[in-house]
Amino acid sequence: MINRNKSLIMAFGLLLLLIIVGFDVMKEKEKSTVYLKDALQDKFYIGTALNTDQIMGRDTAAMQVVKHHFNAIVAENCMKSANIQPREGVFNFNFSDRFVAFGEAQNMFINGHTLIWHSQAPKWFFTDQNGNDVSRDVLIQRMKDHITTVVGRYKGRVHTWDVVNEAILDDGSFRRSKFYEIIGEEFISLAFQFAHEADPQARLYYNDYSMSNPGKRAGVVALVKKLMAAGIPIDGVGMQAHIGLDHPSLLDFEQSLQAFADLGVKVSITELDLTVLPSTWKNRGAEVSDQYEYQKQMNPYAEQLPDSISKSFHERYEAFFKLFLKHQQHIERVTLWGVNDGHSWRNNWPVRGRTDYPLLFDRQNHAKPIVLSIIQIANP
Ligand code: G3I
Repeated sequence: MINRNKSLIMAFGLLLLLIIVGFDVMKEKEKSTVYLKDALQDKFYIGTALNTDQIMGRDTAAMQVVKHHFNAIVAENCMKSANIQPREGVFNFNFSDRFVAFGEAQNMFINGHTLIWHSQAPKWFFTDQNGNDVSRDVLIQRMKDHITTVVGRYKGRVHTWDVVNEAILDDGSFRRSKFYEIIGEEFISLAFQFAHEADPQARLYYNDYSMSNPGKRAGVVALVKKLMAAGIPIDGVGMQAHIGLDHPSLLDFEQSLQAFADLGVKVSITELDLTVLPSTWKNRGAEVSDQYEYQKQMNPYAEQLPDSISKSFHERYEAFFKLFLKHQQHIERVTLWGVNDGHSWRNNWPVRGRTDYPLLFDRQNHAKPIVLSIIQIANP
């Protein structure tokens, strides 16, 4: 009799345990089916950059993540002038057409990157048949043709454009790019005017890296004020946010965000990623032309990321998302610069061939714990 009772109690205990475990599993399942875009709905768009494999539908696993978690997209490379107009008057819209069509099919907020950027601009843009610099008038006409054709093609379909990218240096002065050298600072207002004429509904952004730097902040504030005073249509400032574990300071970042918002324009976090790798080169921005030689000791996490670094990564992302949520009334979107760690440009900058872990999804497209934390922070 005693043995029978014991067995009954044990069976009952086991059943209870199964129910509890089952309930926990269900809860976990429920948690994992909450997506970033749903958790951040009504706060700001949450976006990601797409590479050409994704745009062409070859990377189906990553595209599942995109469809589930994100409601905004930007093209990582295919809309840059060197890619979209490799020769004068010869446009390649294969990728950008697919990109925009995907965004529309998914009902996403679509961002165009970028119309006027000194980097990834084809050589022909600035030179004549003899290789000499073209005149101011010719360059203005080329800018106009480029912007009118690209923006015009996606009129009413691309919601925001990064009209001018990275025209201000860290000290707040103008970058001595070919656009600046040949046209002068007016190239910026002209670009915004041409974009506005091509699509009056599109929202137009100035976009740059190291925006938390006080020098650059002051330069960008001065630029935007000047454009606004002259009646140039500018709707937003894009803070790229290629951040590290120890830079920039949250306070500097917040001060810039506030300074841009105070101008009365929207702010977007346009290229968010967080490197965990060491840098002795003081590369804190995203100057694409900076490249250094590979050294093994500068690639310390080639196999896996130690727990202590994962923890710092997690806390740092949490701190930034708390900041974004605090300023949600000013922020139009927050976009990650890539879907998973394996896709990130950070693996190849400023040194080629390292293993970085800068994004929200790992190389197998699994959500890192930070995804759930963001979801929870957004819905306390
Ligand atoms: O497509 C070619 C391929 O055919 C060739 O075999 C290969 C050899 O290197 O290069 C491939 O092109 C590369 C391209 O990315 C696509 O992967 C270019 O070399 C490489 O320079 C290019 O880098 C991009 C970089 O901008 C320069 O355009 C990065 O992917 C992209 O993430 C990065 O994005 C910039 C933003 O536009 C502006 N803000 C900074 C940000 C990071 O640098």
